[in-house]
Formats: sequence, C-alpha cells, structure tokens
Amino acid sequence: MKKILLINGPNLQLLGVREPGIYGVKTLPEIVADLREYAVELGCELEDFQSNSEGALVDKIGGSLAAGVDGIIINPAAYTHTSVALRDALAAVALPAVEVHLSNVQEREDFRHKSYTAAKCVGVIAGFGAFSYRLALQALVNHLDSLK
Ligand code: DQA
Repeated sequence: MKKILLINGPNLQLLGVREPGIYGVKTLPEIVADLREYAVELGCELEDFQSNSEGALVDKIGGSLAAGVDGIIINPAAYTHTSVALRDALAAVALPAVEVHLSNVQEREDFRHKSYTAAKCVGVIAGFGAFSYRLALQALVNHLDSLK
C-alpha cells in the first residue's frame, strides 16, 4: 500500500474561518477527513501534518524517506513564496511531490506568483478550493503508478 504524506503549512489550521471568500468554508480537519476517504478508495494510506513553523515542515519532509513515504502532497501556504529551505528539503528527499493551493495564486497579488517549491514537485494544482487536494491525490497516485 502506498504511503502518502500530506503537509500543510502556516495558517491553514484556520481554514473555515480564514478569509472564506478566498479559501472556502471547509475546515482543515474536514478536508483531511475527505482526503482520507479518497485515499482508501485509491488504495493508499494517508498521513497528515500541519505546522506554522518552517523548521518543523523541513524536519517532516526530511524524515519522510525513513518513514517509508512514497509521495508527498504539500500546501506550503505562505512559505511557497519565500522558502528556500522547503525547496531544498523537497530536493533532498527527491520523492514525487504535488504542490497544492486552494486559491488560484496566479490571479492574486504578484508576490504569490513566485513559488520556490514548485520546481521540486511533479506538478502544481491550484484554484479549485478544497477539491484541489483531491485532484492532487489523484495526480500523485497516477504518477506513482506510472513509475512502476
Ligand atoms: C495558499 C496560497 C498562499 O499564497 C497563501 O499564503 C496561503 C494559502 C492556498 O492554498 O491558496 O496561505 O497556499
């Protein structure tokens, strides 16, 4: 069974109350529960981790090989646009990863157009609200299957 690690970055613990016009009304536990169900349908196991701390996110990615993770879904949130450390962590473990965003970052402020992490991911899914996570899981599992 494939093991997928879902990583959520800063302020995503506030989903549901945080700028609902941009990020929707679903809470992070609701999104994770939905993704867990979908993971079962796709025959994989999902571990989830959220932190507001860049170092904790780097540590989690760094530990993913030893933890037997096959692929990563990551919403680095604001660190998308700032973090060389997260980019280097993804490059270091070199696991297939999909970057996900609830909002369409390309239609927002200029500072959100740059992603430090995307280049170390297989691809990026953005703009579909909570459904972005389902699309990311489907894309990641399809990618992992293609490697067999
Ligand atoms: C986000 C987009 C980021 O620009 C922002 O900093 C977030 C959430 C998204 O999912 O749309 O915190 O990653």
